[in-house]
Amino acid sequence: GTPYAFFGAHQAGITTPVQEHLHFAAFDMMPRSDRDDLIELLQDWTYASARMTQGLEVSATGAVGGPAEQPPDDTGEALGLPASHLTVTIGFGPTLFENEDGDRYGIRDRRPPLLQKLPPFLGDDLDPASSGGDLCIQVCADDPQVAVHAIRNLSRIAFGRAKLRWSQLGFGKTSRTTAQQQTPRNLFGFKDGTANILADDTAGLATHVWVASGDGADWMAGGSYLVARKIAMLIETWDRVQLGEQERIIGRDKGQGAPLSGGEEATAPDFSSAAIDTASHVRLAHAAQNDGVRILRRGFNYVDGNNTLGRLDAGLFFLSYQRSPEQFIALQRTLSTDLLNEYIRHVGSGLWAVPPGAAEGSYVGAPLF
Ligand code: HEM
Repeated sequence: GTPYAFFGAHQAGITTPVQEHLHFAAFDMMPRSDRDDLIELLQDWTYASARMTQGLEVSATGAVGGPAEQPPDDTGEALGLPASHLTVTIGFGPTLFENEDGDRYGIRDRRPPLLQKLPPFLGDDLDPASSGGDLCIQVCADDPQVAVHAIRNLSRIAFGRAKLRWSQLGFGKTSRTTAQQQTPRNLFGFKDGTANILADDTAGLATHVWVASGDGADWMAGGSYLVARKIAMLIETWDRVQLGEQERIIGRDKGQGAPLSGGEEATAPDFSSAAIDTASHVRLAHAAQNDGVRILRRGFNYVDGNNTLGRLDAGLFFLSYQRSPEQFIALQRTLSTDLLNEYIRHVGSGLWAVPPGAAEGSYVGAPLF
């Protein structure tokens, strides 16, 4: 298919039709880096990302065009592969704005007031080794090799300025962002992404996803806040649960994804119906129970091998975009009584401010400086 444009009003990878694969990476700036290092890193990431998303190598000399006496600019494993709908989406974590040295990058007074580490939630079992990070890069593509190539080369470009803190591979989307996409399934076997905010819902996006000027940090206008939650799923326990109980927990049927109050997948749930449990996931997550709060979900399934008990180390790498972090916080608090909680554990977490898209000739994050 046609490559997705890198430059534009919004960064690609948010409303873009969800691709099949994910490589997500969080980075920390190096201790002695300064403001110029940060700006140059963002410029270099922009240059390489703009090229890679168009199916090109990270530089004009690339993997094999340079001198034989030097390591190549591009690592080469994507040679011959198409762009594969690659998108690269860059975000800024709370710790970038305030660190041990105080205001190392001179951006402290530009920090969006709500860009704070997420508060603790009931049942959190977070591992610092898959949480936080000064910067994040969400890479999505229809070919896993193309996605991994992008993170690998962007990490390499960061050398001396930022280093990889943690990363996550995802296979298989658990959401859709356009009406044309078939609703995919998560590892519990249920359709996921039915009631999502879709790319053609301009009004919904303006209300719930894009930051507006006047929201608290003008440089973020046209951007969004990204929440990542690594949610382990207790697969083997779930697999022993009766079908009817599985459906009661979610609030939708497993085959079609129709609400238990009746109809088809696209039918709006009737929460006054006794058929939908009041503690079901779908009821508690629905806007009606949350003062109208909605989010754009863009998560992926993951399997990181297995543990020593022979259980799959698997789950959902939850990614959501919202105009304010408060939307996720409100939903996650309502979900504290979710029937689903017996079968899931939140093990990783992060929040990043995703700036607006860059104009051609500029770089991602330029309005911050
Ligand atoms: C809906 C699964 C975690 C927010 C759904 C649906 C499923 C599902 C099957 C119904 C289909 C759909 O509309 O997409 C899961 C699983 C999770 C998980 C397996 C964890 C492993 C979360 C979290 C949040 C969330 C952490 C937010 C804090 C929502 C919302 C909806 C939804 C907003 C749409 C509700 C509606 O308006 O009908 N989820 N979910 N989910 N989920 Fe989750």
